[in-house]
Amino acid sequence: MTINYQQVIKDTGSIIRQKSADVKLPLSVEDKTLLTEMLTYVRDSQDEELAKKNDLRPAVGIAAIQLGIPKKMLAIVVPKDEEEDYEFALVNAKIISESMQRAYLKGGEGCLSVDNEHPGYVPRAARIKVKAYDLLRDKEIIISASDYLAIVLQHEIDHFSGTLFYDHINKENPWKDIPDAIVIE
Ligand code: NI
Repeated sequence: MTINYQQVIKDTGSIIRQKSADVKLPLSVEDKTLLTEMLTYVRDSQDEELAKKNDLRPAVGIAAIQLGIPKKMLAIVVPKDEEEDYEFALVNAKIISESMQRAYLKGGEGCLSVDNEHPGYVPRAARIKVKAYDLLRDKEIIISASDYLAIVLQHEIDHFSGTLFYDHINKENPWKDIPDAIVIE
């Protein structure tokens, strides 16, 4: 099975709000296959030709609940520099510490499960430490993340608790200034 955009669960139903459960380690063959396919989706979605051919809406991350499976698994592919990407296939990812300082994407966030526009700043921690089992490295790792990587990790980990990015947007004033926050272009 390959994942395509049509299979992604949208925020029009209640499934996306479900809480995800811890995953048993070592991973079952089924869980390993799913997580590998999630990573393939994200990676291929960033290739223009493959995205078109296989119906993949471009993404930097995906969580298992977005395929209707309430398990704490996520995959991300985020640009690191010109030559390399950060790639993670994480199980039971958990934020173990975060900075007081906030950060947000200048243009707001998007999500494969959200079709409607939800403009506004999404304040998040500027720096975080995440502990997880990483399938790619086959071990438990601690990621010290800042900038865009930190934002993407928080967005995906939010999916484990059924939280969507627009839940964080200030309802009265979506573009309200966030004092001392780092603005990510
Ligand atoms: Ni999302």
